[in-house]
Amino acid sequence: DDKPERRIVVFGAGYIGLVTGACLAQLGNQVVVRDIDPEKIRLLQSGEVPIYEPGLGELIARNKERLTFTLDLQQALNGAEIAYVCVDTPPSASGDADLSRVWSVVQSLEGASYLRAVVVKSTVPVGTGARVRAALDTVGLQHVGYASNPEFTAEGTAVRDFLHPDRVVVGVSDEATARLISELHEGVDGPVVVMDVRSAEMVKLASNALLATKISFINEIATLCEKTGADIEHVADAVGLDHRLGRHFLRPGIGWGGSCFPKDSEALRQLANNTGYHLQLLSAVIEVNNLQKRRAVQKLKDELGTLMGARVALLGLTFKPGTDDMREAPSTVLAARLLAEGAEVSCWDPMARPAEVEPWTSTSRHVSPELAVEGADAAIVVTEWPQLKEVDWARVVTAMRRPVLYDGRNLLDPAAMRGLGFTYISVGRP
Ligand code: UGA
Repeated sequence: DDKPERRIVVFGAGYIGLVTGACLAQLGNQVVVRDIDPEKIRLLQSGEVPIYEPGLGELIARNKERLTFTLDLQQALNGAEIAYVCVDTPPSASGDADLSRVWSVVQSLEGASYLRAVVVKSTVPVGTGARVRAALDTVGLQHVGYASNPEFTAEGTAVRDFLHPDRVVVGVSDEATARLISELHEGVDGPVVVMDVRSAEMVKLASNALLATKISFINEIATLCEKTGADIEHVADAVGLDHRLGRHFLRPGIGWGGSCFPKDSEALRQLANNTGYHLQLLSAVIEVNNLQKRRAVQKLKDELGTLMGARVALLGLTFKPGTDDMREAPSTVLAARLLAEGAEVSCWDPMARPAEVEPWTSTSRHVSPELAVEGADAAIVVTEWPQLKEVDWARVVTAMRRPVLYDGRNLLDPAAMRGLGFTYISVGRP
């Protein structure tokens, strides 16, 4: 194996930065991850991982000879040939992505004399690469190459997605940088697709928007199934067998959340608005997603008559199973609506970090689903944690004040639940 070992600095020790750093170390490079959060770096230096991501802790431990963590900028830049930008780009008040963290990383590269390329993995508006290029020129890094390398890993499967991707997208404006970044991906089990910077930036936003579109589409068809007596699971299975459509991302539910789809779909809509073109379809996709959460609360209200004084248990809080991430989780929207309607909310989640969970959960969070539903008038399956399949539902039905179960993820079997005595409601199934 004559692939050279590169010295790489990764800026940002969040989900993307840690996975990128650990995987690049695994591929045989010397990696230092730099963050400005002292607590995060302290944890990482003492061998702990500040987030929950399956396989990441093991990968970091296995590569500890080649992977270090620091707060110190000079130490991070020392000898670095390639700088990865993995900082977050949260939405600003206007809806545009807030790029301030990206700019502060770019400014901090001044004087990095070994640097050959800057790679941006953070999700950014189309045209950001050109602006970063110009900023690099002003800090004396004219000779340094630029690459857009958007991230397509999903939380919960990030390490596998990085090492076995459907594709690696590399947007560059020069041959040398294309070769350098392609070479870095030798050992990654997936095709490297090279294109111009703007197209690479667009691929990321278009991919997430199309995935969100598939979900909102199937959620609307599920609503129509409810109104016509069809069963969405049969419909999605058979529609998905058409290989042009595919079964993935046709799971109906309470709507999409997370750190990416809500933020990226807003950012793409805003990007379009800034060009003077209004994206019709994407606006509807976002609206359907908001409606889906309102409908969940409405269904409970119809069933209970009123939510005033009702006790409602939320089962699962994170935006999807297999993560501790609460960002834009549908549970937070449901809880806020339920509280506004005068309901009392209790909840259970195996992973959500207490400090990050909204205030309502701290007072009424339970160690098991069975305890969370005690005395409840209704329970909602919000996140399809596999633990919920193992619950003793026969016991639950007797522990609840009223056995109303809204399965927002179609996790459980309708006939079995009704057989136990539940008033069982799900999404798009009779
Ligand atoms: C998403 C994309 O899947 C990744 O490809 C992308 O790299 C990532 O965003 C990102 O931009 O960084 P992630 O947010 O981790 O990944 O989660 P997903 O598994 O895509 O789920 C997103 C939301 O859609 C969840 O709330 C999930 O419950 C919901 N969903 C997903 C459905 O309601 N139905 C489905 O069929 C699939």
